Parts: sequence; structure tokens; C-alpha cells
Amino acid sequence: MNKDQAAILSGDHLAKDHLSGDYLTKGQLTGESLTEQPLTNDLFLLEEYFFSKPAQWEIGTGAHAVKLESRVLSAPMAGVTDAGYRRILRRFGAALTYTEMVSAKGLHYHNENTRFLLKHVPEDKPIFVQLFGSEPDIIAEAAAMVQADFDGIDINMGCPAPKIVSNHDGSALMDKPELVYDIVKMVCQAVEIPVTIKTRKGRRLEDNQALEVCLAAQEAGASAVTIHGRTAAQMYSGKADWDVIRQVKEALHIPVIGNGDVVSGAAAVRMMKETGCDGVMVGRACQGNPWIFAEIRAALEGREGFPKPSAEEVAAVCLEQAAFEVACKGEDMAMREMRPHIMSYLKGSKNAARKKRELMQVRTLKELELLLKD
Ligand SMILES: Cc1cc2nc3c(=O)[nH]c(=O)nc-3n(C[C@H](O)[C@H](O)[C@H](O)COP(=O)(O)O)c2cc1C
Repeated sequence: MNKDQAAILSGDHLAKDHLSGDYLTKGQLTGESLTEQPLTNDLFLLEEYFFSKPAQWEIGTGAHAVKLESRVLSAPMAGVTDAGYRRILRRFGAALTYTEMVSAKGLHYHNENTRFLLKHVPEDKPIFVQLFGSEPDIIAEAAAMVQADFDGIDINMGCPAPKIVSNHDGSALMDKPELVYDIVKMVCQAVEIPVTIKTRKGRRLEDNQALEVCLAAQEAGASAVTIHGRTAAQMYSGKADWDVIRQVKEALHIPVIGNGDVVSGAAAVRMMKETGCDGVMVGRACQGNPWIFAEIRAALEGREGFPKPSAEEVAAVCLEQAAFEVACKGEDMAMREMRPHIMSYLKGSKNAARKKRELMQVRTLKELELLLKD
């Protein structure tokens, strides 16, 4: 990492050119102007039960409890929610972010690429680091190494990727509730900040191990659990089963975060209402659409009529992210990694369909700026 990259990750912003004049005001970026409409739609007139949950809540207890300003969290997504994109998501209202999943073994061996995943800007706070692994002592050691830079430690117990599962990590842990207990217990002993897990409904297609896994984690000292309502075998297909989230919520006394198919403000309200979960976590629906966090916050506060961003706003935010990524990673790697983001930002736009080939090959920030202006 060079000096410029370090400076950016440690504080000051860039892309000022892209934020001034031609593009967006700060108010538009933060969604301040977007949440003033009165409540009119019946959908949002929910029973007392739902609105009895205040917007502010906490994960953990005591001096290290993490205070959250709203009930909508951003999901860890390897290759998507890097420091640059999290910086954007945060501004639109994600109450908590997570690093991409980080190998506990990689930290143990001081691997430079692994350590790069830990970088985050100061305003990306509160933030949890998500670790993966299956050896309790290695995960605990890794957690202790990084705890000073994070507000919490999340342990990945749901990743379905073959190279993770074949190493007995990620969703493979769902078959071993005793090991889940040992991992959480040892990590809790190694750190002072809250420890959480993120898991799935089960491992194989018909499995439903979520409750057993979450109870083991709670007993070992976890401060919260997140459940994605699909099995690992389903990967990302089919519909998430929210009933399993409700079952876990009813059985646990620590906060339960629901995940899977939260694609709009209305879906977030429905998940909270149907499952009683304490927070909703948004994954794929935020790709190219950081506005979803402002939309969900508005919906959870009972406001509706959230306006879609204009094409200019979308282009400005896309360009701002690209500029930040370039400063962090260098133009070559940043623009390569930006291509799927660009396509997500421009999904559905006629202009993008026309220029798809050029956008998919864009190599410099300048090229992107010209294509977006055109
Ligand atoms: C590209 C991609 C990368 C992901 N990486 C991670 C990860 O690093 N850690 C994790 O716990 N989940 C990961 N997930 C799963 C998401 O966090 C989330 O659980 C899943 O997408 C379901 O939520 P959704 O329906 O809102 O997308 C990933 C998902 C996708 C699509």
C-alpha cells in the first residue's frame, strides 16, 4: 500500500470533483431530502408489536456494547462489500457493516492480501470483521489480533463455496454444533468486543440446523446471530425461508438478524413483522443500489413514497466509488473489479444496454467518466 492509499483508508475523502457542482449535493447523497414524506400507505400502518421496536438498539452488553442507529445492516459479500463500497453503503444508512470474509489462517500467517481486507475508513463504523475458519484456537488468535480495529467479531458459519466447505469451514460447521460452541467460546474468551455468528437454515437441501447452531452459539457467549433463510445447498437460489428466522427468534434471548430476500423497504418491514427479528440484513439487493438502505430506514420509520435516484445521481455515486477504489487499489485492479459494480449501478438503463460492451471493458476512470456522461 502506498502513502496515498494509506491516507485515504485512514481518513480523508477523495472524488471531491465528482461530488461538486455537476453531480450531487451532500443532502442528496445522505438521503436527507428523501425521507420527509408523511405516512399515507396502509402497508406501513402496522400493529403496535412491530413499531414497539425503537430504531436504536445494541449488540452485546456492558462497555463494549455496539450501539446501532437503525435496524438495517449491510451483509458481508466477498468481492462486493470492500472498503470502498462499504464507505458508500454507510452514507446511505447501513447501521452496521462487515468486512468481506477474512481467513483466520491468513491472519495467523500474516498474509498481506488477507490483511488488506481489514482496511476500512474511519466513518465506516460500527464495523464487524467477519472471520472464517474451523480451528477454535486459530480463530481466537486471529480475533485477538484484530479486535482493536473493530467493534465486533462475526464468525462465518454459512459460506457454501466448495473450497471453503472442503476445508471444513463456513457452512460445514453447521454439522458440528459442539465445534460451533468451542469456536464461539474460545473467541469470546480471547476478545472483549461482541462475538456473533452468521449462519444459514442448514447445510443440505432439506436440513434445518439453524436452531441447534444458534443455541450452541448463544450458550457459548455469542451476542447475536444472523440467519440466512436458505440452506447451503441452495446457495442463492429459491426463496429464503423466513419461518426458520422466526423459530430461532422465538427460542433465543440474544438479538436475531434476519437475512435473505430483503429487496425493498416493504420486504424489510414484512420480514421484521413476520419473524420478529431484531434487524434485517441486506445482501444482493444493495449491489448498484446503496439507496436501498435509505429506503428501508424510511419504511421502518413508517415513511413511504421513497423516490428512485435520477440517472445523474446513480452515475455520480458510481464514479465516486470508482475514484475511491482507484486510489486504494491502483487503476488497473480497481477498474477491473469495478466492472460488475458498474453493470449493477446501470442495470435497467437503456444507455447502459447500448454501451454494455464498452462498459465491460472500461480500463480507466476517465473512460468511465466519459461513458457515463455520454
Ligand atoms: C457475491 C456474494 C458474496 C458473499 N460473500 C459472503 C461473505 O463473505 N460472508 C458471508 O457471511 N456471506 C456472504 N454472502 C452471503 C450474503 O451475505 C447473504 O447472506 C446472501 O446473499 C443472502 O442475502 P440476500 O438475499 O439479501 O442477498 C455472499 C453473497 C454473495 C452474493
